[in-house]
Amino acid sequence: MTEREESTGVRRWSAPGRVNLIGEHTDYNDGFVLPIAIPLAVACEGFRHTDDLVRVSSRQRPHEPVRLPARALAAERDLVPSWARYPLGVVAEFGRRGHRIEGLEMVFDGAVPAGAGLSSSAALCCAAAVAVRDLCAAAVGDRELIDIARAAENDYVGAPTGILDHAASILCTEGHALFLDVRAFGAAETGGFEQIPFDLAATGLRLLVIDTGQTHDHAAGGYRTRRAECAAAARSLGVDSLRDIDDIDELSRLSDPVLYRRARHVVTENERVRTVAALLRAGADPRETGPLLNAGHDSLRDDFEVSTDVLDAAVAAARAAGAHGSRMVGGGFGGSIIALVDIGAAARVQDEVQKRLASKGFRDSRTFEAVAAPGAGPIE
Ligand code: GLA
Repeated sequence: MTEREESTGVRRWSAPGRVNLIGEHTDYNDGFVLPIAIPLAVACEGFRHTDDLVRVSSRQRPHEPVRLPARALAAERDLVPSWARYPLGVVAEFGRRGHRIEGLEMVFDGAVPAGAGLSSSAALCCAAAVAVRDLCAAAVGDRELIDIARAAENDYVGAPTGILDHAASILCTEGHALFLDVRAFGAAETGGFEQIPFDLAATGLRLLVIDTGQTHDHAAGGYRTRRAECAAAARSLGVDSLRDIDDIDELSRLSDPVLYRRARHVVTENERVRTVAALLRAGADPRETGPLLNAGHDSLRDDFEVSTDVLDAAVAAARAAGAHGSRMVGGGFGGSIIALVDIGAAARVQDEVQKRLASKGFRDSRTFEAVAAPGAGPIE
């Protein structure tokens, strides 16, 4: 009998990636975001062992399984292969918070492309987090689970991300966009978010996600620099965070032109999130959100300077082919774009964007339709 058959009950979970409809680089400024979960997810199969060893493996990394005593996870971090730091960071964080973790096995199978701006790493952390909760720490609520997944990525992996991706993966529900007020969510034990119905097909629309094939890495410098610039702008303005600024006229007190542009992006982006949320909440035609999506991209390109020539070219091609709105998604420096299109225009937009990307040397771009999928949890 194999070790697996001896174990008491294999269970399964999954955690999705996300696209953010609008609200980039606002989460770590205590602002607003509006993501949906996407149908691409990380699946986890897990069970308990009677010893104290934590075992993780990945179908995508068949030669890099890891097996370590739970108490050694923190000390052994530098020896752990980089993919495994995400789930082991989650286990370590449960332990650090006083949850008793013993023998455990988790096998991951990821379908969210890495480096595509679709939160593959948060999906991996969240798949591990829901699995560890169900196997070892049933009393942990969703808010703590989001904190655990984020802490794993921030502290164990060393990527200074905000809360957007983990909150989206855990809290999103099928058929809804998640309107999250990051400050309110962090400050209270309940509330701070709202599920807004999001069904594009009902109005003859599709949301295309086009992964350009230009990959990024948030443990790298650009993301970290933007966070530091936002913190510096808030300090100069004498506020806790850029969330406290509602009116861009207040930014004229910033003498540094770079900090001014960074702050202008955050302030205008928060306003765009609130406006898009209000339109969707009121049941407006989602086409009306198109100009706001376009403005969001232009602001990320010109003020926040996290777009790339490749992302800009893809967005321009989507708009020229008839998209109502198109923008880069996620942290930037590569990754994916979204395009809001009439169903009848979807094939044309996809072709034109892929042709433009191929002309720039990116021949492996992938397009799929994003419908608002369920958040993380057990699967049968
Ligand atoms: C990355 C980070 C998120 C968020 C976005 C930009 O995806 O992980 O926390 O800051 O970039 O909106």
